[in-house]
Amino acid sequence: MTDFLQRFESHLRAALGDPRHAEREPAVLLEASNHLATAGSAKRMRPLLVNHFGAAVDLHPLYRLCIATAAELIHTASLLHDDVIDEGTERRGRPTANARWNNSVAVLSGDLVLCIALEQLYELPRTVTTTAIELVAEMTRSAMLEVQARRARRWDLDDWHAIARGKTGALLAWCGRAPALAKNESDLARSFADCGHHLGLAFQITDDLIDVMSTDTGKNRFADLRQANPSFLIAAARQRDDQLCRDIDAWWDGDGEADELHRLARAVASSEAPRVAVNAVDDHLAAALDALGEFANHPNGRQIVGWVEQLRSIAHGALTSALPKRSHA
Ligand code: FPP
Ligand code: MG
Repeated sequence: MTDFLQRFESHLRAALGDPRHAEREPAVLLEASNHLATAGSAKRMRPLLVNHFGAAVDLHPLYRLCIATAAELIHTASLLHDDVIDEGTERRGRPTANARWNNSVAVLSGDLVLCIALEQLYELPRTVTTTAIELVAEMTRSAMLEVQARRARRWDLDDWHAIARGKTGALLAWCGRAPALAKNESDLARSFADCGHHLGLAFQITDDLIDVMSTDTGKNRFADLRQANPSFLIAAARQRDDQLCRDIDAWWDGDGEADELHRLARAVASSEAPRVAVNAVDDHLAAALDALGEFANHPNGRQIVGWVEQLRSIAHGALTSALPKRSHA
């Protein structure tokens, strides 16, 4: 584990175990918050991104930790709520808080985690806090758009884009924007936010790809197809294949059989959509590198370039997934 990540893990645990909360809050809320926030399989992508951008503007290490913790906890709060909305049962290889406890515990611990996240920003310039509040509002609006799209069971790539920008792109954009704003570097704040936004969209498309293509997601497999959840891959498959679109609509409109779900997943996986999704990942990653500009040569910038390569290889690797050949799938 890198030096930054070690300091981050203790800062995060200290924030969640702060006696101001430990003495006041019902124990179960902190237990549920820790259950998700400290799960070993959390990737800590957002804190690392904050650290890399923070290093580029020479932001004080303590402020980097505070922004990184705020970003990770905003993410945690959103997942606690998202799993209630999605009725998810598994996350980061563990039962979700709603499954392990109940919806009330999951929602209220999400609220508490969000407050702890914003507390991290008290010492930072006002623009960092105001952009964090705007971010949470944007994420909330997108989550509602997603719920509405899922209920309507009809959405296309434009809807997907509007949702993904706010749901995933906005937080990664803030991970670039906030450290630069903390140093009053408004031009860099725009470029870093742009880089984060494109990384976020590439990441979301890859997540959508993995939901159908991978056998080991640590989450509920085929959740997007099962729940009519806006997904880049499914939107691209529906746009390109009218018969598949009708079959998916029929499954969403009726009482779908599990066998049919697997057949539809196989049809999506073997359509042109995965290739379209991988091309879109490549385009967003190229735009992320463009926005990174000269910072790509900075030691921390090189780490981001390394992620770009990793994400590209995960997306391309999903194309050769075993799913279409699996007999039970
Ligand atoms: C997971 O995406 C969910 C999100 C990235 C954001 C959810 C946002 C909210 C619930 C709004 C409330 C926000 C806050 C900060 C309290 P996904 O459902 O595509 O991925 P999954 O497969 O991991 O569930
Ligand atoms: Mg979800």
